[in-house]
Amino acid sequence: MKITKRAWPVLIVSAQFDTKNDEGFRLGSLVDKLKDLHALSVYPSFDYDDGAEIFMSRSDLAAVVIDWDIPASDHCGLMNPEALLKLIRGRNKNIPILLLTERLAMANIPTDVLEIISDTLWKTADTIEFHAGRIDTFVMEYIASIHPVFFGELVKYAHEYKYAWHTPGHMGGEGFLHSPAGRAMYNFYGENVFRSDLSISVPELGSLLDHSGVVGEAERNSAKVFGADYTYYVLNGTSNVNQIIWRSQLVQDDIALVDRNCHKSLNYAMVITDAYPVYMVPRRNKRGIIGPCRLSEFSEESIRSKIQAHPGIPIELKDQRVKMSALTNSTYDGICYNVIHIKEQLQQSVENLHFDEAWYAYARFHPIYTNHYGMADDDRNSDHPPIFCSHSTHKLLTAFSQASMMHIRDGSTVKVNPDEINESYMMHGSTSPQYSMIASLDVATKMMEDNGDVLLEDVILEAIRLRQKVTHIAREMKFKKSWFFEMWQPRIVDYAGSDTAFENVPAEYLASNQHPWVFSRKNTWHGFDNMEDNYAMLDPIKLTFITPGLDDEGNLAETGIPASIVSDYLIKHGIVCEKADYYSFLLLNSLGTTRAKQCSLLTALLKFKVLYDDNAPLEQALPKLVNDYPEHYESVGLRDHCHEIHQYFKEHHMLDKMQAAFQIIPDPAMKPADSYHSVVRKQVEYVELEAMMDRIPAVMMVPYPPGIPIMMGGESMNEKARPIFDYLMAMQSFENRFPGYESDIHGVRRIERDGQVHFQMFCVQE
Ligand SMILES: Cc1ncc(COP(=O)(O)O)c(C=O)c1O
Repeated sequence: MKITKRAWPVLIVSAQFDTKNDEGFRLGSLVDKLKDLHALSVYPSFDYDDGAEIFMSRSDLAAVVIDWDIPASDHCGLMNPEALLKLIRGRNKNIPILLLTERLAMANIPTDVLEIISDTLWKTADTIEFHAGRIDTFVMEYIASIHPVFFGELVKYAHEYKYAWHTPGHMGGEGFLHSPAGRAMYNFYGENVFRSDLSISVPELGSLLDHSGVVGEAERNSAKVFGADYTYYVLNGTSNVNQIIWRSQLVQDDIALVDRNCHKSLNYAMVITDAYPVYMVPRRNKRGIIGPCRLSEFSEESIRSKIQAHPGIPIELKDQRVKMSALTNSTYDGICYNVIHIKEQLQQSVENLHFDEAWYAYARFHPIYTNHYGMADDDRNSDHPPIFCSHSTHKLLTAFSQASMMHIRDGSTVKVNPDEINESYMMHGSTSPQYSMIASLDVATKMMEDNGDVLLEDVILEAIRLRQKVTHIAREMKFKKSWFFEMWQPRIVDYAGSDTAFENVPAEYLASNQHPWVFSRKNTWHGFDNMEDNYAMLDPIKLTFITPGLDDEGNLAETGIPASIVSDYLIKHGIVCEKADYYSFLLLNSLGTTRAKQCSLLTALLKFKVLYDDNAPLEQALPKLVNDYPEHYESVGLRDHCHEIHQYFKEHHMLDKMQAAFQIIPDPAMKPADSYHSVVRKQVEYVELEAMMDRIPAVMMVPYPPGIPIMMGGESMNEKARPIFDYLMAMQSFENRFPGYESDIHGVRRIERDGQVHFQMFCVQE
């Protein structure tokens, strides 16, 4: 379907639409001329407040025409024309705004209004045809500027309706029309998806692998917008970006400094590069929330002593410089590092810095994140090595799934050679890229370029309002001697010179100031010990909800509500959490979060509370669980169920065991690459957990919660690692006691024997 300019309506704000005078008549004719002569559609709005409402709820407007002279008696809301104009220009730098006014009124229009409008139309001068033509000219110019370069060329190509004689085999969608299943798919997605699914042999669209033509232009624009020297579009996710980065810089036996809290793609990067990893250990608070690594972990001293202590690195290799550092920024729970401090530390001893910002592509577009992202601008002229950043543009911006970006900034003395990087890029790329994914990266860039600051401000404000609402409800409930969920966030904020409760600080203040979110030693709400000042902050849009049962000191109360029960309940209400820990669960606010979605969340949480307080039957709260395991859960009340699991955690010291397990970096018995080679050579076997002591897993093991590797492939389950063994045993027993609560553990296979679940790990053969 071709999208025409009719899809881009003009908003006209005037009180004269229905008036039976010359002005009303002229306005009516203007609307007719816009429709008949220029095929435009028009939204009439009768006052400034209504105009503001329409503008705020639509991003498809092609121009706004505002009557400057609506008499005060005709508009009763808060808006006047000046405020409306400023609102519109503040949210959209480019949309044409035309002022409809009397010649005489011109003198009264303030200069700062004249500066932001696109043109004035004098009501009684010029013909109606002229006014309509003028509006149309602005509309056409604006619409042409909306499409970024690659997407624009793709749309143009698709609209040329060429006969395809090239791959993909469906040839513009035609191939689907020959069988019912194909037709169903065609109907579901619509023609444009297929018309724009093209082969790399279409010259008009350039080449992704060479970064030429409009694809190259789009990548260069993304580099400018995201603050990089080079940006590469990567179509197999940040998993692939991470591997491209590492492949481009490391070879066999190089040393890398890696955040233990790293994504599994980095483990695979270690495997394919055959490097030696030394690890930085993230802090954890008593709630089990993973915090930042200590600043001291980045010091040259600390790095050198880890390399010296590494039993696997041969003596003759120990003095080499670290080739790459990899740090997850922000963490799952939304902890972002002040990268300026990190760079200052690491530049002494590391040749390349890699920030894995899979969940954080938006940071550059809002001042609240100043200095807390890899491509931060402040140190453009300072001394630093090349910096690599991976962004899952698809995760929290608007690209299609798997569409990611790799950003690179030259070092101050070491420059990156794009031809060298491209060798690694091509090694991991397909020669048949999906053009819609490329377009989605181009469009995500343009959205951020055009009004990323406004979009981010909205998301942050909404997240803060939700935080405050939850906190208010919790206070209200506490006052009534009842309970509600809390948020993991600052409790007291230095506002207007005094310590103020978080929920009483204006949301606008919290959204426009970084300091309330920055961790400090003094303000200990975060629970991380010896927290360095001005070193890390909480991202306001990552919402960690706290369930009752565990206090800040890590003490379990008499009663409690394990978070996985709440997250299972939320799923029933169509709300899927990002992750659930023992007593906290995480939700993300992003560009796709609406107020309606937030309301449903609050309603669902309040309903959970009612069911819990009434000890309602589990059949009502978690029907699927009862249906799957009636022998365990039939006739059990929700509160009793929560209590039973809570007691189990308490009696079996589950949290202590988890804490102890994650303090340990097990001894490496072999490099990650060597353990993988044993998989390839089929020198591996499944070993049951009970027999795991003194064995070496061949692949990484990552339990959720907390979602960080408990063991890497090639590490030894020896006496030092016993707390890891104990924690896995505790997880296995828990699953047997409470079926339906199996947590995800990457690298663990489950088998059933005699009605019991047994964990098995893929180990290197002895
Ligand atoms: C820190 C981190 N890095 C990389 C990735 C991989 O990203 P993608 O899903 O785009 O491959 C993830 C995915 O969850 C992640 O959490």
